[in-house]
Amino acid sequence: MIVAIDGPAGAGKSSVARASAAALGFSYLDSGAMYRSVALAALQRGRPPADIAGELQIELGDRVLLDGRDVTEAIRDRAVASAASRVAADPVVRAALVTKQRELLSDGDWVAEGRDIGTVVAPEAELKVFLTATPAERARRRALEGREDVAAVTRELEARDDRDREREHSPLRAATEAIELDTTGLRLEQVVERVVALVGKRSASGTPER
Ligand code: DC
Repeated sequence: MIVAIDGPAGAGKSSVARASAAALGFSYLDSGAMYRSVALAALQRGRPPADIAGELQIELGDRVLLDGRDVTEAIRDRAVASAASRVAADPVVRAALVTKQRELLSDGDWVAEGRDIGTVVAPEAELKVFLTATPAERARRRALEGREDVAAVTRELEARDDRDREREHSPLRAATEAIELDTTGLRLEQVVERVVALVGKRSASGTPER
């Protein structure tokens, strides 16, 4: 089974997807880490992202390895996040990474998170969740994570969201059949419970309740 979790930055995707995968005994795919890895490699090597995306060895797990080097922390840098959203607008980069993502998802049970999992990477996903939260809540969470200034984080988040939504190729949007879940004011456990319940309903009946 594939559970797709899409949504804007700061909506809680990573925490929810990771914890839901653990609760369900599924593997977890962080597709954003792939775009971040390509952005980091392009910055460090001074190469066009489209030229290197297909060649890079990106291994995801507890640690993220880029051509064998541990980049788990490096890809969380703000400059890399911003570069990742620009890199992600390139159709050549997207095609290379979508191929890698589909290969992974072809075997076993997965919770996969990103922007286009339900719409492009795995339109066949049995359950699609679109996580949202108010812009203020998303900026607050991101600022807390990085101990950063909320106003600066808000500006960066808005710029990144605009780029992710307005790009020509695979823009951020909810799949028509996605279940929208607003996480504002909810604790992580509450959101995970809801996702796990939706998976249970999906397994039992074939169609999750809305
Ligand atoms: O989820 P994240 O913040 O780690 O994602 C980093 C960037 O990668 C984000 O700006 C959008 C892009 N991205 C994408 O375009 N498609 C995905 N499936 C995942 C991430």
